[in-house]
Amino acid sequence: MSTKKDKFSSKDNNYMRIAINLAKERKGLTGENPSVGCVIVKKDKIISIGQTGFNGRPHAEINAIENSDENLSGSKMYVTLEPCNHYGKTPPCTKSIINSGIKELFYSINDIDKKVKGKSFKILTKKNIKVWRGLLKKEAIDLYDSYIINRKYQLPFVTAKMAVSKNKLLYSEKVKKITNQSSDKLSHYLRYKNEAIMISSNTLNIDNPKLNCRLIGYEKFSPKRIILDKDLDIDLNTYIFKSAKKNNTIIFHYSSDHSKINILKKKGITLIKSRLNFKKRFNLKIILKKLFSLGIRNLLVEGGEKITKNMLKNRLINQFYLFESLKTLQKTKKHVIFTSNDILNRNYKVKTMISPKLVKDKITIYKR
Ligand SMILES: NC(=O)c1ccc[n+]([C@@H]2O[C@H](COP(=O)([O-])OP(=O)(O)OC[C@H]3O[C@@H](n4cnc5c(N)ncnc54)[C@H](OP(=O)(O)O)[C@@H]3O)[C@@H](O)[C@H]2O)c1
Repeated sequence: MSTKKDKFSSKDNNYMRIAINLAKERKGLTGENPSVGCVIVKKDKIISIGQTGFNGRPHAEINAIENSDENLSGSKMYVTLEPCNHYGKTPPCTKSIINSGIKELFYSINDIDKKVKGKSFKILTKKNIKVWRGLLKKEAIDLYDSYIINRKYQLPFVTAKMAVSKNKLLYSEKVKKITNQSSDKLSHYLRYKNEAIMISSNTLNIDNPKLNCRLIGYEKFSPKRIILDKDLDIDLNTYIFKSAKKNNTIIFHYSSDHSKINILKKKGITLIKSRLNFKKRFNLKIILKKLFSLGIRNLLVEGGEKITKNMLKNRLINQFYLFESLKTLQKTKKHVIFTSNDILNRNYKVKTMISPKLVKDKITIYKR
């Protein structure tokens, strides 16, 4: 076994890079399980690939083994995460790897899950399979950012998104759209990659958003809609109410308005009553814990100024997409100013910046 980078050849790097790309492609769509990519190589030729199935099963290693038309005896497997070694909802991947005749296994990082962590190495080496770990470790840690947060803190990985004008307004009555079409595509991509999207009833009632993914061919991956609505103010003429059905909408509320509760329930909306703190607001960490318990692992927050600031202050946002338009918006009676730049610059690192020359809006991705 080795963890040294120089023990890996450029071919090893390339195969693992392909595995990482396979995992990235499925990221956010594998439910409670991490998205894993897998490549099987024999005599320097890729003979099979696998990704974790939608909603987490089958595992990538099993898909790669079963996808292969060739005999796997003497082959090498490259997998982004330590294979599982216990009976859960599926049998252990280590068992299938041993039975397949694979002779060498490369994986990037240990699984953070205590049931698995580091044990596969021993199981597989005992069966005379050479095991190497640490290949493209840095890239894998980045790939598993959300899985690590999920496992460590039992919280969803939270991505927030905000669009602001050149003069830092996030709302002005006169303008409906702040950013351009390229930014819209990225916003819809974020909706595709997250299982749920959260906004306040205030934003819902003002903007009447659809909150769905409108990338052609990906509409079915639209996220669940989560509405923070302590007073049950949701307007029954909004798109979200009208398009609500069983299992696609959750409202967190405090009000006990029975007639409104009945109307919402009849629509199939899940209502979750949550306590308020001394500031008469929800404890957003408790809301996130509840969402985690309901199976939500990746949450997109398209909040306005208050929700966003509240979450940033409480360190509940893991990643932040700031879209800055070149437009200057007119200040009106009801305009809203984005005031969280300081918190972002203090507590977050800039991970990526997309230049306005390319997309007209400046897009900065901040990460904790
Ligand atoms: N440009 C963008 O990217 C973007 C995105 C979303 C919204 N917007 C705009 O933002 C404007 C609204 O701004 P905003 O700052 O009022 O919106 P917001 O932050 O989305 O929502 C504010 C509402 O949420 C409530 N709230 C905040 N934290 C809460 C908590 N912890 N628990 C329960 N309720 C909580 C507030 O209650 P309190 O009564 O206690 O304050 C208030 O009613 C809209 O006009 C919308 O168009 C822009």
